[in-house]
Amino acid sequence: MELIICKTAQDAAMTAGDLVLEQIKHNTKTILGLATGSTPEGMYQYLIKDHMENGTSYAGVSTFNLDEYVGLPPTHEQSYRYFMNKNFFNAIDIRKENTYVPDGMGDAPANAIAYDRILEASGGIDLQILGIGTNGHIAFNEPGVRLDSTTHVVALVPETIAANARFFDSIDDVPKTAISMGIASILKAKKIILIALGESKAEAVRAMFEDEVSTKVPA
Ligand code: PGA
Repeated sequence: MELIICKTAQDAAMTAGDLVLEQIKHNTKTILGLATGSTPEGMYQYLIKDHMENGTSYAGVSTFNLDEYVGLPPTHEQSYRYFMNKNFFNAIDIRKENTYVPDGMGDAPANAIAYDRILEASGGIDLQILGIGTNGHIAFNEPGVRLDSTTHVVALVPETIAANARFFDSIDDVPKTAISMGIASILKAKKIILIALGESKAEAVRAMFEDEVSTKVPA
């Protein structure tokens, strides 16, 4: 595990973005694990700029996203599929059929199982991008979650619902459940870059590095 401290969020976006570019240049058929939220936005912008200026191609790349709200269709502005199309996929030359986001509509538990099957059949994630919650969660794996879980349906904790309420008209509109890759699925990635921005994440990062491995700090 390597810790890279960056002075600004922009530096962090460039540092993470350069590692992604290195990976894609090394293997044009890379399978990326991707995340939503405010944390990776700068990195996506950096990669889009590189795509436009330097022509880095994603034509052979596949992607698997960490999670999706249950009950939001892909057309909903707060769905993670919508976020990914808008903030990354629409601006690069990736084939949409090679971009996977868990399906939050219909039979959620069955969709979770199907997602793991597709992920496994693909050969697994080469490079996973992660954010971290202020409580140490990764994806929607909240404190207390099993460390051996694969993709599953999760109930969001009040802290996460409150943190995500800023994106919805009211806190009542925030979905209460989601489909999330589990800790075991995430740890299967060959490499992981976890990006943490700002003072609000400092305690979670400290706990991740210094505390004993436990379900208290999923990261
Ligand atoms: P953020 O969320 O990127 O919006 O801070 C990260 C997370 O909760 O995993």
